[in-house]
Amino acid sequence: MTEQERKALAKLVTEPPKFNEPMRHHTTLRVGGPADALVTVHTLDELQKVVQFALERGLPILVLGEGSNLIVKDGGIRGIVLRLSGELTRINFDTQEIEVGGGTYLPHLLVKAAQRGLSGLECCTGVPGTVGGALISNAGTAEEFIGGKVTRVTVLTHEGILRTVEKDELRFSYRSSNLKELGLVIVSAVFNLSRDEPKAIMERIHRRWRYRWETQPVNMPCAGCIFKNPPGDRAGRLLDAAGLKGVRIGDAQVSTVHANFIVNLGNAKAKDVLALAELMRETVKAKFGITLEYEVQIVGEDE
Ligand code: EPU
Repeated sequence: MTEQERKALAKLVTEPPKFNEPMRHHTTLRVGGPADALVTVHTLDELQKVVQFALERGLPILVLGEGSNLIVKDGGIRGIVLRLSGELTRINFDTQEIEVGGGTYLPHLLVKAAQRGLSGLECCTGVPGTVGGALISNAGTAEEFIGGKVTRVTVLTHEGILRTVEKDELRFSYRSSNLKELGLVIVSAVFNLSRDEPKAIMERIHRRWRYRWETQPVNMPCAGCIFKNPPGDRAGRLLDAAGLKGVRIGDAQVSTVHANFIVNLGNAKAKDVLALAELMRETVKAKFGITLEYEVQIVGEDE
């Protein structure tokens, strides 16, 4: 990005963009090289201006959620990394159909909905991501997903146009959706939730939380499950049975708690994490003949 482009970009937003910003500060696995520009937008107007700016100059855009399902390579990200804040994280509870900004932190939404007696998103308990990110990857458990509760999604298209997509055009399957094709940015989503006692909803959330605490390395830097579950089996079970728990490359280690997680013991680089993930894939392929598919998103350039 040229100096002129940096200056022009800074004029479009209220919060000063961060240039050459290390992405390891913005991913839960704590790896990743510098983004050319990390831009936080607080309003729809700012978002549209930045997207227009990037489209006119052919600058790539990556929308960052909480960085919780993301591996950014050590060479970092060219172009603009966008973060949604302010009015793009608002929750409108006017009706049973709640409207939520794409940048909303999912754990916050779950608790707010539970307090108002709105149930349906409990499957996303413990998913430390944004609503937009969760929708794109259809987050949830192995059986229940966020996509099942959504009735429409407003996106900014790849051409920079605001568009509302109705449920019948949305496709959700296990850890996948067609939202990346439909839009560049998830601006907001409408969920249809059902009524229940706040206490009962909170109990379900706590139960799921406890399960995660007992079975996942939630207190370590990690990026959630690295691989999708293959049809009819569990990636964690296969990786464990292959003897991979505790295996290390540099400071990247296969979690000793759940074999489908890689944890950062301190100073792991993305290249360590990716080499370890490939070793995990190759070992499972050699032992069980099953090819695991990545569940985490891998972005950026090699160093
Ligand atoms: N297992 C092992 N060893 C391990 C890990 C798991 O034998 O090291 C066995 C367990 O004993 C269990 C089975 O594998 O019998 C499934 O394990 P778990 O209940 O932990 O579920 P999972 O399929 O590994 C899925 C999602 C998680 C989600 C949990 C919560 C995927 C890839 N993972 O995990 O999602 O939190 O269910 O129910 O679908 C994520 O998407 O990032 C993620 C963490």
